Amino acid sequence: MSDFKESLETSLVVASTRGNSEIKTGAVNVPIYLSSTFHQESFDNFGPYDYSRSGNPTREALEKTIAELEGGTRGLAFASGIAAISSAFMLLSSGDHIVITEDVYGGTFRFVTEVLPRFGIEHSFADFTDIDAITRTIQTNTKLIYIETPSNPCLGITDIHAVVELAKSHDCLTFLDNTFMTPLYQRPLDLGVDVVLHSATKFLSGHSDVIAGLAVTKDDDLGNRLAFIQNSFGAILGAQDSFSLIQGIKTLSVRFEKSAESARKIANYLSGHDLVEKVYFPGLSTHPGFDTHNRQSSSAGAVLSFRLPNRSIAKSFVENIRIPVFAVSLGGVESILSHPAQMSHAAMPKAEREKRGITDGLLRFSVGLENVDDLIADFEQSLEIASKQQEKVGI
Ligand SMILES: Cc1ncc(COP(=O)(O)O)c(C=O)c1O
Repeated sequence: MSDFKESLETSLVVASTRGNSEIKTGAVNVPIYLSSTFHQESFDNFGPYDYSRSGNPTREALEKTIAELEGGTRGLAFASGIAAISSAFMLLSSGDHIVITEDVYGGTFRFVTEVLPRFGIEHSFADFTDIDAITRTIQTNTKLIYIETPSNPCLGITDIHAVVELAKSHDCLTFLDNTFMTPLYQRPLDLGVDVVLHSATKFLSGHSDVIAGLAVTKDDDLGNRLAFIQNSFGAILGAQDSFSLIQGIKTLSVRFEKSAESARKIANYLSGHDLVEKVYFPGLSTHPGFDTHNRQSSSAGAVLSFRLPNRSIAKSFVENIRIPVFAVSLGGVESILSHPAQMSHAAMPKAEREKRGITDGLLRFSVGLENVDDLIADFEQSLEIASKQQEKVGI
C-alpha cells in the first residue's frame, strides 16, 4: 500500500469526481441532475435518492467535496451562506444562550439579534480578540460560541484553539464562519471546531455568479442532526448552483493564491499612504492578530479594509477609482470595493457599527485577478484626487 497523500490543492480539483462515483461514465465533470423526484424500482426497497430536497446526486458530490476539503465527515449545501448559518443555529433550543463575536457579518448579526430572540434564544457579544472577554460572557445556559476569523470587515483574529478549549470546558459547541479563508488556508475542524460554515458565494465559487452556503461537521451525530434540519427547513442548494460551485472550487487555489499575493502588495502600499489612517490586514506584522493568524492559517487571504478620514473622502475615492466594481460581496475574480457602513453592515445600528470600527470612512477591498500594478496605480490616482479634496476642505 503506497503512503501517497495528496495535497489539498489536488483535492480541490479531483474531490468532486470522487463524490460522483455512482455512475461510471468517465465524465470529468459531475452531471447536473435536474430532477426533483426519483423512480423507485422496488415497491418496498427504495434507492439512495427519493426527492431532491432530501438528496440530489449533484448536491451530494458538492457536499462530499467540501467535507473532504475541510477534513470533516459530513458536508451540507444550502441556498445561501446565511441559510447555512441560520440552519446551524437551529441546533439550539429555547432557553439557550450564544456567545458571539461582536465583529460578525451583518446578516448573522441581524439573525441573532432580531430572529432568534423570538424563539427564546438569547445572545451576548464579546470582543473575540480577547479570550478573557469571551470567558466573562459565558453563562450557565451558554450552548454555543460563534467565531468568525478573520472577521468582517475589520479582519479581527480569534485564537481558534483557545476558544475551542474554553468551549469544551463549558460543554458548549463552537461554530466558525470560514468564508474569508476557505479550507485552502484554514481548517477549523482540525482545531476542534464543531461546525464550519461558509458563504460559498465568495472565494469558493469565485465568479460572483452563485449564492450558496455550506456547513461541515466531523462528529457523526452532529452531522445527522444538521442534515435533519437541512431537510426539515428545506433551504437546500439547487443542482445547477451545486455544479457551478464545484467548478469554482476546482480553481480555488490558483485564484486565491494570486489574489492573496496581490492583497499583500496592496496592503503594504496603503500602509505607506498619508491619507490612509489605518489598514486592516492580518498579513501586516503590525496587525494585532498577526502571530495568532500565522499559527492557525497559512495565508492572510485576499480581503483588506482601510480607513479614510471621513465619508466624503471615501465617497471621492470610490467615485474616482476605475478598475474595481463598487458592490457588496467579495471573493470574485473581479476586485470588489465596498462601503460596509452602507452595505454589508447596514443592518447594524450606527452606534454598534462605530464601536466595532466600522466608521463612515471605512472601505473594504476584495482583491481579484487583475494585474496588481494596475490596481495600485488606480488606487494612487484616486487617492491623489481625494487628497486634493481633503486639502481644499482643510483651507
Ligand atoms: C463572512 C460572511 N458570512 C456569511 C455571509 C452570508 O452569506 P450569503 O450572502 O451567501 O448568504 C457573508 C456575506 O457577505 C459573509 O461575508
